[in-house]
Order: sequence, then structure tokens, then C-alpha cells
Amino acid sequence: MRVQVQLDNFTILAPLAGITNLPFRLLAKSAGCALVCSEMVSSNGLAYRSVKTEELLQSRSEEKPLSAQIFGSDPIIMAEAAAIVEASGADILDINLGCSVKKVLKTGSGSALMKAPRKVEKILLAVRDKIKIPLTIKIRTGWEKSGDQAFNIAAIADASGVDAITVHPRMATQGFGDKADWSLIAEIKNKVSIPVIGNGDIVTPAIGNPWIFSQVMSLINGTEMGAPVVAERFDVMTKYLKTSIECFGEKRACRMMRSHLGWFVKGLPHSSRFRESIKRIETENEALSLIGEYKEALLD
Ligand SMILES: Cc1cc2nc3c(=O)[nH]c(=O)nc-3n(C[C@H](O)[C@H](O)[C@H](O)COP(=O)(O)O)c2cc1C
Repeated sequence: MRVQVQLDNFTILAPLAGITNLPFRLLAKSAGCALVCSEMVSSNGLAYRSVKTEELLQSRSEEKPLSAQIFGSDPIIMAEAAAIVEASGADILDINLGCSVKKVLKTGSGSALMKAPRKVEKILLAVRDKIKIPLTIKIRTGWEKSGDQAFNIAAIADASGVDAITVHPRMATQGFGDKADWSLIAEIKNKVSIPVIGNGDIVTPAIGNPWIFSQVMSLINGTEMGAPVVAERFDVMTKYLKTSIECFGEKRACRMMRSHLGWFVKGLPHSSRFRESIKRIETENEALSLIGEYKEALLD
């Protein structure tokens, strides 16, 4: 029996390598995001039981439902990795057919698969056969031409038991440049029977602004929600720091926080001074006192 997942609203956190780790996802979830996604995880790393790769699957019940994304190009290895993801407790398995980073393309994975529909079909059928949780894919609109390749892959997905498709409406060769062409999302939706999720060019970024999820839902419900007050921003930064330390240990978390904390103060007075000061933090106490000092200066 296939498992179904019900979402509370329409907002979904896009997978972002190096960013959508467990502490970040917990922030998004508590700000009203209906579905959080992991960073992309290497199917090879999972199949070969790399501890570092498996760490990317760490999760907590508070963030559920979780969509975990894998990338790769070998149907057997992808199926094996999918089974590991399901066993880890993830609620949805997402397959990356959109990454345009050279390192990934070189292995025939990510958006290189937009050019290989037969391979995609093999992967999808092998993975579908192995897991009961919903299977989704994230695609581009094509390799260097928008349209047919995406329509073809979407049709294959629909026929192979895929439960939903996320469309990042840029061609692989565009990387993240130019404008996302949302008309392609509608075109793809018109050709398939399964749900299609739109992605790309959300101009107010979620990085450093987890409130975007409740802001979006307020707008959909006809009200407008203001920006968070200063104190709330700093509470979130403190929570993010503390959860990161719980997940990764003090040393590693502080290294991450040297750049990540800066996201949350964008646009605040003297934020560049704060960003400069956190570049050297080594300990939780150092981070907490810099956060506290900046907060007090702003609230004075
Ligand atoms: C730093 C960074 C990391 C990303 N990592 C992933 C990833 O792991 N998996 C994935 O499917 N897409 C990844 N993406 C693509 C985003 O999920 C999204 O599709 C893309 O940024 C388009 O949205 P935008 O126009 O709002 O930036 C990444 C994008 C960025 C900027």
C-alpha cells in the first residue's frame, strides 16, 4: 500500500544545498511552512553508507512531514538510496533532475538527466518499486531549450507512479540566471494528472526570513502580515544557533553561524558591522554575546 502525505497549506521550502539542514528546516516549520525539504543527498554516498552523507538525513518529529532529496544517475543505486531514505523516516522522496552544478552534471546526474528520458524512466521505475512513501521529482524546463524535454519527462513521471513534480522553470544552461518562466509551469500542469509545484524567482528570499511562509499564507487569505519585530528576529537567531549546536556540536555550528547569522539582519542598521564581528566566533558564548549586544543596541 502506498502512503499518502497531507499538507497543511501551500508553502514548501525549496531544497538548498548547504542551507536546508535540520536547524534551518525547524525554523521554516515553526514559521508555518507546510513541507520542508532536505539538502540534496548523494545516492552513492547513501548506498556506500557514508556517515557524512547519512548525517544529511537526520530529522526530528517537529519538522514532519519531511521531503528528502537524492541525486544520482544509476537506477540500482538510486533505488538502494531511496530505500535508505524511507527507512530513515523521511515522508517523501524527491529526485533531483534540476541541479546545474558542474560537479553533479559530470556524473550524469541532476539536470543532465533532462537529456536522458530513458534513463529517467529506469530510475523512476526502480525507485518506485522500492518505496511506499510518495515519490516526487524536481525538474528544469529543459537542457538548453524549454519545453519538449520537460513535457516528455513529466509524462514519463506521470506514467511511472511519481506523485508530484516540482518545476524550476529555467533551462539547465541558464543556471540561476535570467527570469524564471512561470508559463512553463502551467503548460506542464496541463499535460499531467499529478500535482505540480511551482518554484523559482520568489523575490523575497526565505534565507534569513523564515516568516515568508506565514506571510505568503496571510496574503493568500487576504490579509497582510508585517515584518517581524527586532526582538523576534534575534530570538530566531538564538534558536538557530542553539539547534545548530545540538545537531553539529559547538565548533562546527559556530563555523556555520559565521555566515548564516548574517542572513537574519539584512537591512537592519549597522548590520555590516555585526556581520563582520561574527566572522570569528568560536564558541556559543561569543555568538550569544554578539547577538545580545547588537539586539540591545538596536532596541535602545
Ligand atoms: C545555494 C543553493 C543551493 C541549492 N541547492 C539545491 C538542492 O540541493 N536541490 C535542488 O533541487 N535545488 C537546489 N537549488 C535550487 C533551488 O531549490 C531553486 O530551485 C532555485 O534557487 C530557483 O529558485 P530562485 O529563482 O527563487 O532562486 C539550490 C539553489 C541555491 C541558490
